[in-house]
Amino acid sequence: MKHDQAEGLRRKLNSIHTPKEAKTISIISGKGGVGKSNFALNFSLTLMSKQKKVLLFDLDVGMGNIDILMGVRANKTIIDMFERKLSVHQIIETGPNGLSYIAAGTGLTNFFKLSEGDKSHFYEQFKELLQMYDYILFDMGAGVTEDGLFFILASDECIVITTPEPTSLTDAYGMIKHVINNQKTMPVHIVMNRSSTYQEGLKSLTRFKEVVIKFLDVQITPLGIIPDDKAVTQAVIRQVPYVLYNEKSKAAKAIKELTFNYLSNSKEIERASPFYFVRKLKQFIER
Ligand SMILES: Nc1ncnc2c1ncn2[C@@H]1O[C@H](COP(=O)(O)OP(=O)(O)OP(=O)(O)O)[C@@H](O)[C@H]1O
Ligand SMILES: [Mg+2]
Repeated sequence: MKHDQAEGLRRKLNSIHTPKEAKTISIISGKGGVGKSNFALNFSLTLMSKQKKVLLFDLDVGMGNIDILMGVRANKTIIDMFERKLSVHQIIETGPNGLSYIAAGTGLTNFFKLSEGDKSHFYEQFKELLQMYDYILFDMGAGVTEDGLFFILASDECIVITTPEPTSLTDAYGMIKHVINNQKTMPVHIVMNRSSTYQEGLKSLTRFKEVVIKFLDVQITPLGIIPDDKAVTQAVIRQVPYVLYNEKSKAAKAIKELTFNYLSNSKEIERASPFYFVRKLKQFIER
């Protein structure tokens, strides 16, 4: 049997014996303030409306604001998992419509500085999360910290949020380049947020895709366009996710369509081994 045939067979056997695991997705951007957290929150809620089990994990440590966007206050954060040795079940909070989320908190600035015991605790707890959900979404901070990069690289996919502004596009390009330089096979999706018209969004998205493919030799998937919508600003002020604040708003309709397209085109992921996310994260951290 040829090597690649044997590899294919091994993977098939593995996938037969591997229980279903959550798909891990990092929501990232180059420039800050382009709408990552709003996207992560409203995308999570829309996936849930399609009967998917979703965990939203705020990894914008120190600056996390997912709870503020939902008008709730997290009693526990990821920090408690380490400082009080809590299980992951004890730090999952519940937001609107029963959304499960983990708040970022302040204090954990460097994963590498955690003790070996704390790190193993995290890895073991994360394995449980992988079995509990269909999707785990990481809301990342703008740009990348060393820690953040490892979570991104260990994820199954990335969704890059940008606006049509040249500064935002340039930074998004830089971010994709950084990710691809470290993980050539990373599937990358692009969301064009805050487009003033659909046409403008489509034009920016198409041009951006062409540039990325030409210079980075990577396949990216345009995921969708979300209009600049004052319903979003109003929803943020009222601390209600915009899909719940006004489900008929342009932004809410756009994210519903985008989620539908995402689910229609998403494929089962073949992973080389169980708890692949944890294995990859560990490799990066201990390298
Ligand atoms: N589609 C939209 N239409 C109008 N305003 C929007 C839209 N998306 C985001 N915004 C505005 O942009 C602000 C920043 O959004 P958000 O906090 O989601 O960005 P972010 O990328 O997570 O920021 P950070 O990099 O600081 O984490 C929101 O408070 C909202 O006012
Ligand atoms: Mg944010």
